[in-house]
Amino acid sequence: MRAPGERSTGSVTSAAFGSLPGGRRIEAYTLTNPAGVEVQAITYGGIIVSLKVPDRHGQLHDVVLGYDDLAGYLTESPYFGAIIGRYANRIGRGRFVLDGRTYTLATNDGPNHLHGGVKGFDKVVWEAEPFEKTDSVGVIFSYSSPDGEEGYPGNLAVTVEYTLTANNELIFDYRAVTDKATPVNLTQHSYFNLAGTPGGDILDHELTINADSFTPVDATLIPYGAVAPVEGTPFDFRTPTAIGARIEQDEQQLEHGLGYDHNFVLNRGDAMLVRAAQVYESKTGRQMDVYTTEPGIQFYSGNFLDGSITGKAGHVYGHRYGFCLEPQHFPDSPNRPEFPSTILRPGEEYHSTTIYVFSVRP
Ligand code: BGC
Repeated sequence: MRAPGERSTGSVTSAAFGSLPGGRRIEAYTLTNPAGVEVQAITYGGIIVSLKVPDRHGQLHDVVLGYDDLAGYLTESPYFGAIIGRYANRIGRGRFVLDGRTYTLATNDGPNHLHGGVKGFDKVVWEAEPFEKTDSVGVIFSYSSPDGEEGYPGNLAVTVEYTLTANNELIFDYRAVTDKATPVNLTQHSYFNLAGTPGGDILDHELTINADSFTPVDATLIPYGAVAPVEGTPFDFRTPTAIGARIEQDEQQLEHGLGYDHNFVLNRGDAMLVRAAQVYESKTGRQMDVYTTEPGIQFYSGNFLDGSITGKAGHVYGHRYGFCLEPQHFPDSPNRPEFPSTILRPGEEYHSTTIYVFSVRP
């Protein structure tokens, strides 16, 4: 029982969420805060399978795409809700040179390596440790990626802490250590629809991205290397703009991405944690702010969703029914010395924080 005046912190519960074909049991952890916000994440891929947040009338709805059961995540998921690693985004031609040695990775996205390879961190089973603190609840996922896994060097010990606070903040805290130099770039790959899924396409959502520049890409979505100003382009989201306002413009970068599928270079100054983006959905009043310590954010407008996936409650996910905002280092950094380094060395600790904050406008 709580003493009078003592604040309720919310709760963490766990339950079975099916089994892998080999029999290994997958658990779901449900984090709830006093406002009723509820996050459910599973030990397979650390996947957020549901995230319920209130609209302006206090109605809770699930705002992330996914499946009702494990089977969907095992067979056809385009990384719905998962932890992405060892390297989020693309590495050109699946190759990089580190300390004079060439490493070859799977090419699982046309000519390139994407999201850690054939069996990335989205497809492994994580250990989970729930916790309750004074003002928050959460779960710590941990995974030991063996030396050579998916072609990457070094044994990498990773933890990703998911925290839900009483202030409707969902915090991801990523840490990793290695015994050999290796690229590391971790992110979270939830597909959001703030209207509440399946809410239709996300083209009316108003997006702000705190970036004066972005990294233009070739037709396989590998950056050319140079950073380009967003000024005067459809990539200028410095003031709130509907995602769909310019997405069909006849513009080469939009053609390459089939819409938005680009890394934005965040304006940071000296700040460690900056507000990277804000998204507002006017029908429900839901708003999401994204803060991160990362130098970039990949904005993906769900261009590959094409109606071929049937997700939760039998809903078909049509073209651009969800968007992703993935804080991360820039694509292909292991081959781009001019980009912020993604190399983690023995004795160092990788540490990255991202916060999604949910609120409503009246
Ligand atoms: C990538 C997209 C890709 C999607 C799902 C995003 O992070 O930028 O190109 O289609 O993930 O795989």
